[in-house]
Amino acid sequence: MSHISGNDNRDSFGSKFGVIAATAGSAVGLGNIWRFPYIAGENGGGAFLIIYLLFIILIGLPVMLSELTIGRSTQRNPFGAFRALKPGQKWFWVGVMGIAAAFMINAFYSVVAGWTLEYLVKAVTDQFSGKAPGEIVGQFNSFQATGWRPLMWTISFIVISGSVVMTGVEKGIEKFTKVLMPILVVLIVILDIRAITLPGASEGLKFLFEPDFSKITGASILEALGQAFFSLSIGMGTLITYGSYINKKENLGQATVAVAFTDTIIAILAGVAIFPAVFAFGISPASGPDLVFLTLPNIFSQMAGGYIFGLLFFFLLTVAALTSTISILEVVVAYFSEELNMSRKKATILASVGIAVLGILSSLSLHKAPGISIAGVNLFGVLEFVSSNVLLPLGGLLIVVFVAWLFGKKHLKEELTSFGLYKASYYRIYLFIIRYIAPFAIALVLMNSIGIIRF
Ligand code: PHE
Repeated sequence: MSHISGNDNRDSFGSKFGVIAATAGSAVGLGNIWRFPYIAGENGGGAFLIIYLLFIILIGLPVMLSELTIGRSTQRNPFGAFRALKPGQKWFWVGVMGIAAAFMINAFYSVVAGWTLEYLVKAVTDQFSGKAPGEIVGQFNSFQATGWRPLMWTISFIVISGSVVMTGVEKGIEKFTKVLMPILVVLIVILDIRAITLPGASEGLKFLFEPDFSKITGASILEALGQAFFSLSIGMGTLITYGSYINKKENLGQATVAVAFTDTIIAILAGVAIFPAVFAFGISPASGPDLVFLTLPNIFSQMAGGYIFGLLFFFLLTVAALTSTISILEVVVAYFSEELNMSRKKATILASVGIAVLGILSSLSLHKAPGISIAGVNLFGVLEFVSSNVLLPLGGLLIVVFVAWLFGKKHLKEELTSFGLYKASYYRIYLFIIRYIAPFAIALVLMNSIGIIRF
């Protein structure tokens, strides 16, 4: 069923909308709805948002386009792609780094996705209606206190995600995302309407949109960069892998803009749903990873039709998480199966077991066994920090440098124009950004955060 010449037994996406839906499905996930609000909340709100948007445009878009280009031109997994482009050189290490990041991200991501499953069950069994904000917080804490329930859900989620990946690209991933993603957007807009009509909502909107740059530190700039990478699914080869399934006729530039735009809008819409509720129900915007689970149930408890909206929301959030984890898992599976000659099934099982072990430890480290930590930070936080704020930006830096200087201008232009099919009038700006802006911006933020330089 391959639509691409050359590599005949590879799967591929079946349509243009399918490409955008699957790539957007990877980008849109817990990163937008769970992580963006909590990171913005911890890093000052409005000013964070501005820096974040700047990073999306100056760094996110070019890295995304570079990844898709590498993927489509080589039709290989990240490791194989670099080896095919620069045989005998060390560039394949970018692929190796991506595979390490994939394990780490999937491990902490599956923990939160597991909470989403628990909350789906709570929504189905009508456990939010009539609850006071304090009771909603209590619900979350007693869920964590059981110890075993979060683990059970994390493992369930890993199993579900693995079974989708096992069925392959077009049948598994594409079909899923096409239908469900648009529904999620509609639902968030409905939540937004309820949130901004809550008493005291303006306080929350102010927090999200009124920049106060005095709250910005070197650490929060790094968080904004890490979040931009995390949310767009870039820097670790996910989009090299997805790019490798894209048909030669697709317009990569257009797909990049569509996906980044969708992803960013959904993060902002999620913020608009959450911050008014944070202030209306007296929750701290700096509540960390628990934030969304402490705020949203309050909205459901207070809105007409809250039962059905809550249920739909947690269902779709689970699906959004799933379309992201399958894209992360796909990186590892494509590597195992293409480079180590494993069957797709064996590769998926092996990867899932590894992720489950790391996932269980990171789940425990959050609430039940804070002793599982490195340098005083719980394992969950370590995995999250090292992958999003270090490995992804570093991967992104190497990817743009590679495309800017080593990929070859002619080859690049061929990919961006799909061999003359499109104009790609952005070509010069793009090349300028990946040569002279994006790599330096990423390097500056990284150096600032390890203290080599100080802004
Ligand atoms: N972008 C996804 C999200 O926002 C997470 C992700 C990160 C997916 C890295 C793939 C690679 O939920």
